[in-house]
Amino acid sequence: MSGSEPAGPPPRVSTGIAGLDEMLGGGLPAGHLVLVTGLPGTGKTTLALQFLFAGIALGERTIFLSLDEETESLAATARGFGLPVDAARADGRLEILRLDPQETKQNIHRLQGEFVADLRRRNARRLVVDSVSLLHMLSDDETGRRTTLFALASACREAGLTVIFTAEADPQHPEVSRDGLSEYIADGVLVLGYTRDSDGRRISLALRILKMRRTAHARTVQPYTITPRGLEVNAKAVDFGRS
Ligand SMILES: Nc1ncnc2c1ncn2[C@@H]1O[C@H](COP(=O)(O)OP(=O)(O)O)[C@@H](O)[C@H]1O
Ligand SMILES: [Mg+2]
Repeated sequence: MSGSEPAGPPPRVSTGIAGLDEMLGGGLPAGHLVLVTGLPGTGKTTLALQFLFAGIALGERTIFLSLDEETESLAATARGFGLPVDAARADGRLEILRLDPQETKQNIHRLQGEFVADLRRRNARRLVVDSVSLLHMLSDDETGRRTTLFALASACREAGLTVIFTAEADPQHPEVSRDGLSEYIADGVLVLGYTRDSDGRRISLALRILKMRRTAHARTVQPYTITPRGLEVNAKAVDFGRS
């Protein structure tokens, strides 16, 4: 035996959603970078907030990098789910950073320089980037887009954080992110989606774990709802897919 890989399974990081933790066999493996994809309204931002607040409840420092909602709008969303956003911001456990993808050139610098240094300095345990789909506005071409995404992912890895990137699903292929790239840089992929009942009249929500490195996980599609407390996953009859 050689190398510096720690023995045994990695420690787990709660997602803040009991049923999802169950599907994951205890939570996200610590240090993973996990992509959460879904169409608008499937609960990506809400899940990301729940993930951070599970850490905040343990006294951890967390960062929410918002490319989508304005800071105050995001804070209001969190308050709407009963999350103690004001207390967490006041004592430094939650930092909401707003990156406006419209202000192109300036932000690309911030992302590749300042932000990376910032991540290290802040000593945070959890990070959310919501959503990486908006990073495409920072670059005019595919190569630039790829470079930005890869730089951000490697900065997150070096900082040793557990990370959630959210991404908009491709409306034509809702199991795949719109950029078609994010899947490749992630250690795990959660897909949030709409399902239609057999009569086609009722639309409900269901999620599945598409991949998750270094852990066994459920391979079933589990229904979930968005309640005033956030996402609730019905993890009954979880099938861990071990054969
Ligand atoms: N307080 C609440 N109680 C119940 N459901 C809510 C509440 N606030 C928002 N929602 C639901 O959550 C959805 C938005 O989820 P969100 O996390 O913003 O999705 P996404 O980021 O994927 O677009 C809304 O469309 C609504 O159905
Ligand atoms: Mg959102």
